[in-house]
Amino acid sequence: MRLIFLGPPGAGKGTQSQHICADFGIRQLSSGDLLRANMRDQTPLGLEVTKFMNNGELVPDSLIIDLIKDELSKPQYKKGFLLDGFPRTIPQAAALDSMLIKMNQKLDCVLVLEVPHELIISRLSLRRTDRKTGKSFHLIFNPPPADGDFDLYQREDDKEETIRNRLEIYESLTKPLIKYYSSMGLVHKINGVGMLEDVYDRISTVLDRMTKSNIY
Ligand code: AP5
Repeated sequence: MRLIFLGPPGAGKGTQSQHICADFGIRQLSSGDLLRANMRDQTPLGLEVTKFMNNGELVPDSLIIDLIKDELSKPQYKKGFLLDGFPRTIPQAAALDSMLIKMNQKLDCVLVLEVPHELIISRLSLRRTDRKTGKSFHLIFNPPPADGDFDLYQREDDKEETIRNRLEIYESLTKPLIKYYSSMGLVHKINGVGMLEDVYDRISTVLDRMTKSNIY
């Protein structure tokens, strides 16, 4: 199964991706996690993208496309993947189309997680991320297990002003992808408001239906 997960920053894509990948046996490829790992390791790419990421700006298409092309060619994605955070612009989507043609693969579904902006601001301002694993938690709705060994921090781009900038960028550059993929008949919209488990039920209902009808 080959999926794209679209939705505004803080909609819950990363959180839900972990459950989807565990249940459906596919690999998550998060462009944000890859970039943050490069920042943490202070690679040349990490140093180049730090300013963009901390300000909530998109990193240039050429950088992210090369990064995803390298990653997606690895054997662990052969059985299927969930793209979380990529593509984010029309040129990125066109580049993905070309990559998939070369790999002789096709997309099965684009999930769009819908959450109102005001709710996103409250979710992100209480998000904390584990430095070691990249896993994210919410101090109230999804707290880290008390017996876990976590090194939690608040992402630089999770400050209210930066969140608003990210939401504006989502509206202008990423939302047009919904139309792009709708024209291919791939889009399934999911209501992302509610308890984590309820949102997951809505997602798994769509994916179970696809699995049963064997359309991927
Ligand atoms: P990226 O890491 O992709 O961030 P994002 O899209 O902004 O997504 P988030 O990680 O903020 O949110 P999420 O939807 O995963 O939500 P989560 O599950 O954590 O990108 C970061 C930056 O990298 C970009 O700004 C850009 O600079 C760069 N970048 C990345 N990809 C790029 C690309 N393709 N092109 C160019 N630049 C790129 O949930 C959020 C919080 O809510 C958590 O605390 C969670 O516990 C909580 N939560 C989740 N679900 C619920 C629920 N149902 N109820 C209550 N709380 C919930």
